[in-house]
Amino acid sequence: MAAFGTVFTPEMILSRFDNNSWTEPKIVAADSISLHPGAHVLHYSSTCFEGLKAFRHDDGGIYIFRMDKNVARLAQSSELLSLPKFDGGMLSQMILDIVKRYAADVPNPPGSMYIRPTHIGTEASIGKAAAPSLQSMLYVLLSPVGDYFAGGAKPLRLLLEDNARCASHMGMVKSGGNYASALQPIMKARAAVQADQVLFCPNGDVQETGAANFLLIDGNEIITKALDSSFLHGVTRDSILTLARDRGMTVSERELTVDELLERAAKPGAEAALSGTAAVLTPVGTLIHNGKEYQVGSGQGGDTTNALRQALNAIQWGKTEDKHAWLTKV
Ligand code: PLP
Ligand code: COI
Repeated sequence: MAAFGTVFTPEMILSRFDNNSWTEPKIVAADSISLHPGAHVLHYSSTCFEGLKAFRHDDGGIYIFRMDKNVARLAQSSELLSLPKFDGGMLSQMILDIVKRYAADVPNPPGSMYIRPTHIGTEASIGKAAAPSLQSMLYVLLSPVGDYFAGGAKPLRLLLEDNARCASHMGMVKSGGNYASALQPIMKARAAVQADQVLFCPNGDVQETGAANFLLIDGNEIITKALDSSFLHGVTRDSILTLARDRGMTVSERELTVDELLERAAKPGAEAALSGTAAVLTPVGTLIHNGKEYQVGSGQGGDTTNALRQALNAIQWGKTEDKHAWLTKV
């Protein structure tokens, strides 16, 4: 199977903001856009995006998972980046229209259609280093995908990093700059200790990795950082916590320090996992900190992680009742 996110449908849907209004969304070729080299996004990083998925059910129907949450998060990211405001109803309709057009290309489970709404500042003005772009482009790309982590559900190795992933007031924004600033630590962690991901823990505060949220599971308790502006408010995180509550687990959204994490993760039966649209719920087997390796529980993932991942997939794949009304039929 091709690497995650490298195959695209031939078309996407696009609207432009200019003269204070949005153009009627249009289906256009997905292989190129035309941008002035002085476009705001290319210099001052006025870009944000989303990641959500559409799933094929046994009855042939196509369903999008928690579209409202992702549309709301892109609206919030756009606001925090001072990009033009858009109507959530317009973006939802754009997503539905393009997914419907490519419904035949939605893979069967465990594959899905990854949906990438993107909003960029297009005004050609290199003088606007401290002013927003008054023109923008909003488009929705589609990419049929399988597993994000090449190893499937193989437990991951995480290197704990003492620095932040990005500026502390911008972590909740799903913006390109945050990913760029995390790249060097991730590349170094791969080369130095063959880590799969970096777990960013500024000042000993366990935050998130470069592409997913982090969860610790200890017996009946699931522990993860409480929402604040420093990290991305994952839709999968919220879904997994809801499913954990449904199962009678205690959900602790609070500060988790590196010291507590390393102590609790070492207990027999402890589990840790990464949650994300691409990552789904992937077990973490090893934590690496200050040159030492710490095995999480058995080092092989565990029953609770598997059960929560299955419960999430069962809803996404239409195998169980969607009792939280998370799916939108296309
Ligand atoms: N944190 C980061 C930095 C991410 O890139 C992602 C992926 O989207 C997540 C967390 C998880 O968010 P979600 O579950 O909404 O996909
Ligand atoms: C997602 O999970 O949607 C992301 O944006 C992560 C990315 C690495 C694919």
